[in-house]
Amino acid sequence: MKSFIKQKLRTHPRVLRGAIKVNRIVGRISRQAKKAVPYGLRQYPDLALHGDRVLRELFPTLISKLHVSSFIETGTFKAATTLFIAQKQKSLPIFTCEVLKEHFNESRWRLRKCQNVTLKKLSSPTFIRELTEGGRLGTLPFFFLDAHGEGSEYLPLVDEVQKISTLKKAIIVIDDFLVPGQPQFGYDVWTHNKKELPLDLSLIKGGLNSVSIYQFVFPRYDADDAFSDAPHDPLRGHVLIFMNAADEVQEFFKAPVARFYTLEQRPTSSL
Ligand SMILES: C[S@@+](CC[C@H](N)C(=O)[O-])C[C@H]1O[C@@H](n2cnc3c(N)ncnc32)[C@H](O)[C@@H]1O
Repeated sequence: MKSFIKQKLRTHPRVLRGAIKVNRIVGRISRQAKKAVPYGLRQYPDLALHGDRVLRELFPTLISKLHVSSFIETGTFKAATTLFIAQKQKSLPIFTCEVLKEHFNESRWRLRKCQNVTLKKLSSPTFIRELTEGGRLGTLPFFFLDAHGEGSEYLPLVDEVQKISTLKKAIIVIDDFLVPGQPQFGYDVWTHNKKELPLDLSLIKGGLNSVSIYQFVFPRYDADDAFSDAPHDPLRGHVLIFMNAADEVQEFFKAPVARFYTLEQRPTSSL
């Protein structure tokens, strides 16, 4: 039956065009219908940090072992990661920003009981600038840069890194990042001027400065380490950047989770 319909669609372009139109209309209606469901009735599976248990162990370990003073996330989306951190670290100041009204409103509802979370509807570079200028982040802020998604015209990543680089010290995790030599990790690609640019060190180097010392730590584990046997999303790459935090790098490599990571020392000029 299916192949009969496919055949008909192929040989009758008007029918095909009609089918495409109907498909679009159905898609639009179903998106609108989803939006009409009250937040309290929506399903929220726990998708924090892609459900990757290495990452889910890494974040609380970094925060407690290294005495992180604040957690800053760019790109709240539906607040999965924000909630995960807020539930584990009830007295840590947490700041998160989302540029899209729809996600901002949904996240505001989901985070309504989290006293230690500040959510702003702002583009991430402005958000980071306001936080750094306001002196609200303490001595060791931990940034989780996740305000990217394939298809957007503006990639805020370089501006974010540049704003963070005005600080004395920081830990930065960039999600969806290319991990050199570890093809099991997926990464985002940003299309700019018809070029496909992976999120990698050469892309962010414009945001780094020449006076700070940056140490890059990359994951080296497999899907088996990250997920149970149940169906799961593919592994996503990330990088940890320790900025002027050499003592913290040493401390990190004493933590149990560090067995999944390697330190890559590279002068900024060689990126
Ligand atoms: C990959 S999702 C974030 C996922 C979320 N951090 C989590 O762990 O569940 C990316 C989000 O970034 C938002 N975004 C994109 N550009 C942004 C910008 N310049 N400033 C703030 N948010 C942005 C998108 O609207 C989207 O909700």
